[in-house]
Amino acid sequence: MVTATLRSSRVLINEAAITHNLTHALTGLPKGTDLFAVVKADAYGHGLLRVARVAQAAGANGFCVAVLDEALALRRAGFTLPILVLGIIEPEYAAIAAANHIAVPVGSSEWLTAAIAGLNAADLPKLHVHFALDTGMGRIGFRHLEDIKAAVRVVQAASSQIEITGLFTHFATADDPDPTYFNLQVARFHQFLAALPERPRYVHVANSATSLWHAACDCNLVRFGVAMYGLNPSGRAIETLPYPLAPALSVVSSLSFVKQIAAGEAVSYGATYHAPQTEWIGTVPMGYADGWQRRLQGFHVLVEGEECEIVGRICMDQFMIRLPHQLPTGTPVVLVGRSGEREITLQDVADYAHTIHYEIACGLSERLPRVSIANQPTA
Ligand SMILES: Cc1ncc(COP(=O)(O)O)c(C=O)c1O
Repeated sequence: MVTATLRSSRVLINEAAITHNLTHALTGLPKGTDLFAVVKADAYGHGLLRVARVAQAAGANGFCVAVLDEALALRRAGFTLPILVLGIIEPEYAAIAAANHIAVPVGSSEWLTAAIAGLNAADLPKLHVHFALDTGMGRIGFRHLEDIKAAVRVVQAASSQIEITGLFTHFATADDPDPTYFNLQVARFHQFLAALPERPRYVHVANSATSLWHAACDCNLVRFGVAMYGLNPSGRAIETLPYPLAPALSVVSSLSFVKQIAAGEAVSYGATYHAPQTEWIGTVPMGYADGWQRRLQGFHVLVEGEECEIVGRICMDQFMIRLPHQLPTGTPVVLVGRSGEREITLQDVADYAHTIHYEIACGLSERLPRVSIANQPTA
């Protein structure tokens, strides 16, 4: 997708906020515990390479990504810190992971056997794998101790090609005020851990929510994602935080067109909005192709510190708002962030769209330029 630099709609990234969030997280870690910055999905829409650079400078010890291509993009950009891919890769790409010193997860002996078959090149570095344990997330990973032990034997038989450097699980409810299911997963994880012959270099369970709200579980690595971007992993479910999170992302635009319409006149596709009286209508050059979902019709943006309703259907590339009075084109519009005394958070947008802030941030498309505002003070 072409990035629209010659248009006023932008995603602004406050790098100081990312540093602030990471510094707090790193300071609170038990000694000997590493933090990998989770930068998958273009760093949750914040920009992969920018966030990786900021995270590395703040002291992150490595990176987690979702797919092998993201890991390779980091390597191509010159990052040498450890990288862990979180999703299962195709076994035929295991050699690419090994050659680039990228660790990958394993959840079955079948995967190991297929991967090992492709790890024969003489000068190939060992493939580093993290054993994924499915303790209740129901996504990837070993579910039975016998299967893990059998997989350990497969690795032992191919010890010149492959090495277990990590063991991990992922929690389904770490962001839930009710800890019952979380505790069940912790107990299962400890059962697995106790039954294994040796601990690998990394043992890890914690995402942001776990690191914020749960005591360490005999682990030495945190996979720190959404909180690095200043977002509360629970949405609004758990308000208490060990340190204040500073949101890093805002979305801005400006009025591209302004007009007055008479009472009864309609706005946008389907003519779903009819002005009840004479109104000033502004057009914002952003739409659902930028990730500003159609279901945000009726939500608002901020103009000169005032809430302006989104009227009529959101189009692919533009949407319309009701202005308090006539304003010139070029007037700034805030979709996420502060304007005057008011603020719209990603959580506000997510609430209106009946989703989670993760999805709103990741959904902001590549057409929106990401622009660093490096020296903004944090909250
Ligand atoms: C396995 C795994 N670990 C860590 C994370 C980071 O989670 P969060 O962004 O909630 O910190 C994710 C995110 O989806 C994940 O899938």
